[in-house]
Amino acid sequence: MSETIHELISEADVAAKIAELGAQISKDYDGEEIYMLCILKGGVFFMTELAKHITVPVSLDFMSVSSYGSQTRSSGNVRIIKDLDTPIEGKHVLVVEDIIDTGRTLAYLLDNLQQRNPKSLKLCTLLDKPEERVTEVDVDYVGFQIPDKFVVGYGLDYDQHYRNLPYIGIVEFDEE
Ligand code: IMP
Ligand code: MG
Repeated sequence: MSETIHELISEADVAAKIAELGAQISKDYDGEEIYMLCILKGGVFFMTELAKHITVPVSLDFMSVSSYGSQTRSSGNVRIIKDLDTPIEGKHVLVVEDIIDTGRTLAYLLDNLQQRNPKSLKLCTLLDKPEERVTEVDVDYVGFQIPDKFVVGYGLDYDQHYRNLPYIGIVEFDEE
């Protein structure tokens, strides 16, 4: 099987949206410091670009989780592969994700993080596929709501490929 990528959201539209989110977040956290937590690997491109548009102090940390499932769908079995470097107790934690699909990964993660007593815990995602939600997740900041299609680019992968595309594209799987 091979695949073709069709542009869904242009590089310029992604950039404009991230600048908008950064401005909103800067306003909401006025006078505070944000502990930005990126979920590897997909959230990396989004987090670094978003951080550049935030005007309050930020520190960055990374977490890696694996959710066993098929190549295009997560399962509920989440495992922490790389944990945070420091405790988040008393900090304003902002989780930065590439996409929320079923919500299973985030539901597990937010529950896990909440138990560490952060001062606040918010969630920012570049993309949201609300049609596929099986677990309710409170999302504070959303870049784009997209239809239930498998997408790549701007950090998102298909079998580890296409993360470096500067735009968001829909993957069309063609039969051979
Ligand atoms: P969830 O647990 O179903 O919400 O899945 C979240 C994770 O699955 C994301 O962080 C992505 O790593 C991956 N994922 C879900 N949908 C897509 C997609 O359309 N393209 C690439 N990865 C996806
Ligand atoms: Mg991910």
